[in-house]
Amino acid sequence: MKALIAYLSYSGNTDEAADVIECRLRQAGMAVERHRIGVDAPIDAARYDYIFLGTFTWEEGSTPEEVKDFVLEVGYKPDNIAVFGTGDTQFGGDDLYCLAVDKLKHFYHSKWPGLKVEQSPRGSQERKIENWVGGVINSGTKAARESKNTGTALSK
Ligand SMILES: Cc1cc2nc3c(=O)[nH]c(=O)nc-3n(C[C@H](O)[C@H](O)[C@H](O)COP(=O)(O)O)c2cc1C
Repeated sequence: MKALIAYLSYSGNTDEAADVIECRLRQAGMAVERHRIGVDAPIDAARYDYIFLGTFTWEEGSTPEEVKDFVLEVGYKPDNIAVFGTGDTQFGGDDLYCLAVDKLKHFYHSKWPGLKVEQSPRGSQERKIENWVGGVINSGTKAARESKNTGTALSK
């Protein structure tokens, strides 16, 4: 299984969240590639079993332009995108907190809850991230198993 972590980070918080995600994925035996949005060469989204898309939220709850460009660059809506992000409740309270995560989750019809991290994930939030990653990959494995079973049943 291969996962991509594609993320944008200016001051390092989302980058740190990506580190925790990568570590948890490797623990689960997943091959992991990272893509720094706005820096690295375009990706072929079809090569991955999972895509973890990460962003911070910018002014008044907006999604950074680089992330919007990445969405256009991918060119379609993969059904295996899990969205995570960092933000700060001091910027507009709950209504605007990590709003870019909600927007991207909605846009991609992601089957997993979006993960919101307050600023740096170091400390107690690391567990939250690890649990979230576990939830994503376990449900994915379950779905693959179920579709395999359905295939077996149909071929009989
Ligand atoms: C100008 C500015 C506007 C921001 N607006 C929001 C916001 O609307 N909602 C939010 O949750 N966080 C907001 N933040 C906080 C950042 O999203 C947060 O610090 C984030 O962790 C930065 O990610 P990075 O370290 O990966 O660059 C804002 C930060 C700045 C500097």
